[in-house]
Amino acid sequence: MNIQIVDKKLSQIKADLEVVFVLGKKLKHKWVKDLALLGEQGFKGGDGEVVYLPHKKKLYIGIASEKHNDLREAAALCVQVLKKKKVRSVKLGLYYDKLPETGVKAITEGLILGAYNFNKYKSKKDKLSLNKLIISTEAYGGKIEDVNKLQNALDEGRIIAEATNYTRDIVNQTPSDITPLKLTEIAEELVKDKKLEIIVYGEKYLEKEGMGAFLAVSKASPYPPQLIHVKHKPDNPKAKIILVGKGVTYDTGGLSLKPSEGMRTMKSDKGGASAVLGIMQAVSRLNLPCEVHGIIGAVENAIGRHAYKPDDVLTAKNGKTIEVKNTDAEGRLVLADCLVYAQELKPDYIIDLATLTGACVVALGEYTIGVMGNNNEFKKNIIAAGGKSGEFTAELPFNKYLAELLKSDVADISNISSGRWGGAITAALFLDEFIDKKNKDKWVHLDIAGPAFVEKPWGYNPYGASGAGVRLIVEWIKSL
Ligand code: BES
Ligand code: ZN
Ligand code: ZN
Repeated sequence: MNIQIVDKKLSQIKADLEVVFVLGKKLKHKWVKDLALLGEQGFKGGDGEVVYLPHKKKLYIGIASEKHNDLREAAALCVQVLKKKKVRSVKLGLYYDKLPETGVKAITEGLILGAYNFNKYKSKKDKLSLNKLIISTEAYGGKIEDVNKLQNALDEGRIIAEATNYTRDIVNQTPSDITPLKLTEIAEELVKDKKLEIIVYGEKYLEKEGMGAFLAVSKASPYPPQLIHVKHKPDNPKAKIILVGKGVTYDTGGLSLKPSEGMRTMKSDKGGASAVLGIMQAVSRLNLPCEVHGIIGAVENAIGRHAYKPDDVLTAKNGKTIEVKNTDAEGRLVLADCLVYAQELKPDYIIDLATLTGACVVALGEYTIGVMGNNNEFKKNIIAAGGKSGEFTAELPFNKYLAELLKSDVADISNISSGRWGGAITAALFLDEFIDKKNKDKWVHLDIAGPAFVEKPWGYNPYGASGAGVRLIVEWIKSL
């Protein structure tokens, strides 16, 4: 979709339709020209209200508030409504006159996120006829002077939303299409024309480096595991950030096999890895002044005669031994080795993103990312970035009594808790065992098991992958 800022009045811009976002409180504003007609339709400018007036060439959309996430939702709704009409071009004025850049960024994101359609496996591909959107500098509060600022905000919104859609595309593909090797190919494709670097390690390297936890998960799979490391290295970086993504291309549960209904949608277990790739794309296209490393543990958790087993004892890269009590708690095993690898890069910050536990979905619902770690300030900043980006986040607090539940009678630690509750936190406390003392404050864990893949549309997210984590982390890196 072509979205552009045009420094002209709305009346001077040609388009099939004008879209007007209306806040209930401002229904009587001079911009709302069809008050009588709107009144007939019962339109009050409330959240999600839509009135289409083809003869007036107008589409009115109610908004909950002028806050950026409500604008994102309204913009996405606008695309959804127009999907069914044959409208090719629309124009709109800026509602958001107080902070026009934030508004333009949010509207751009909402349009691109809302226009997303995954149809790789459909024989009939429905195409959006809307291909041009013109934003006028004419605004409620008077004309906007700084067109450059608006243009930058638009570009930024586009890059972030496209990166989110890129992540959605990876997650939505089937476990047969996206194997660990395919994730490598995707990463290699990503770095091609950008200023990113890549290095990929296979089984031999993992063996040599003693990454016994990561390797065990892969044992029953016909597809070899891959450790993918993508780098963004600007000159004089402000900080060094390591992102670690869980890339389980399919999670059957292993020998602790998942029941059928629990297994379905486990193609989304590569959500963390896919988000890391999306973030790397955005960071590179935005030219952000931080050094960012994306590390992906790509592996399939399958069953078969070579499968790792409950009762096995594994040795991770840092020498710690792990008693396997459940092969379905595989993500933390992969991450343990990847986190040890990540710390060798001497980072300022480490963030892991993982569809780690069903317990996190139970705790927070399916829309919210669980934020865990030892550093309150760091967690607070991530949660603040959530607010700005439109992603929902909530903290789940650590405590030493839950940590005790990971004790093992035969190894240094067990891969599941002996208790029944608090599974999202005990999973994170397991990861914490692989964070060196000196790095405790540098690390945050994000459990994206809920929002990474939702089987019903919500806000500007259609059925399936939402690209969870991409907008949140890009926003956080920008805030540094
Ligand atoms: N990939 C799952 C977690 C998951 C569940 C992601 C639902 C998305 C939606 C993970 O590997 C897993 O199976 N975790 C187990 C842990 C348990 C064995 C301690 C779980 O959540 O049940
Ligand atoms: Zn699992
Ligand atoms: Zn998993």
